[in-house]
Amino acid sequence: MTHTTHPTVDELFDISDDRLRERASLKWSNVDVDVLPAWVAEMDVHLAPAIIDALQNAITRHDAGYPGSAEGVTQAFSDFARDRWNWNIEPDQVSIHVDAATAAAKLMRHYAGADRSVMIMPPVYNRFYDWLDVGGVRPVEVPLTDVPNGGYFDLDGIEAGLKAGTKVILLCNPHNPLGRVFSRHELSELAELAERYDAVVLSDEIHAPLVYHGVEYSPWLTVSE
Ligand SMILES: Cc1ncc(COP(=O)(O)O)c(C=O)c1O
Repeated sequence: MTHTTHPTVDELFDISDDRLRERASLKWSNVDVDVLPAWVAEMDVHLAPAIIDALQNAITRHDAGYPGSAEGVTQAFSDFARDRWNWNIEPDQVSIHVDAATAAAKLMRHYAGADRSVMIMPPVYNRFYDWLDVGGVRPVEVPLTDVPNGGYFDLDGIEAGLKAGTKVILLCNPHNPLGRVFSRHELSELAELAERYDAVVLSDEIHAPLVYHGVEYSPWLTVSE
């Protein structure tokens, strides 16, 4: 595949087993040759042409110092958010972190206050428990209700947790693993509760660009400050 033409989806995913096994990444370097690692978070895909160009460009210039201005990426995110979700977020409201886990742990540590707890709604992305651990906070679990039919916020349970002193709710929307996209109405109900008890909602929206066409998706900050 050459990056001078725009690749098709088939081309992007057309990589032989042998080539994948040459990769130094965790997924492929960590298994014996008779094992086919099937986890999905590390995708078996060619890099996008724009990424190849940017990396090759940097290498040609020996441009490998500490990260400098993030203007390009904050502007790109702002443009993407406006085009995709009609969400106006200014580039200077966007900050760059090593990964979602590091940012979330820092924020939870900061906002949890004396209570040192964070509310999560299982079944949820299992690494959330590690994130809380790193943030030095304990989980208050308020499971989603009616999971076989989609999974819904247990507003009474959430209110009980907030009343007991929890100041941070870690939300996953779109939800991993349920695939649920919470409606604007559901998010508003959660926002009202959080506001009433002076709590902060941290919304992990990492899967938002994967929502099916025709499904309404609302970034948290378009629902509540
Ligand atoms: C809900 C959710 N948040 C965060 C992450 C972390 O993504 P990364 O691979 O960037 O660590 C994942 C990865 O699966 C995820 O599902």
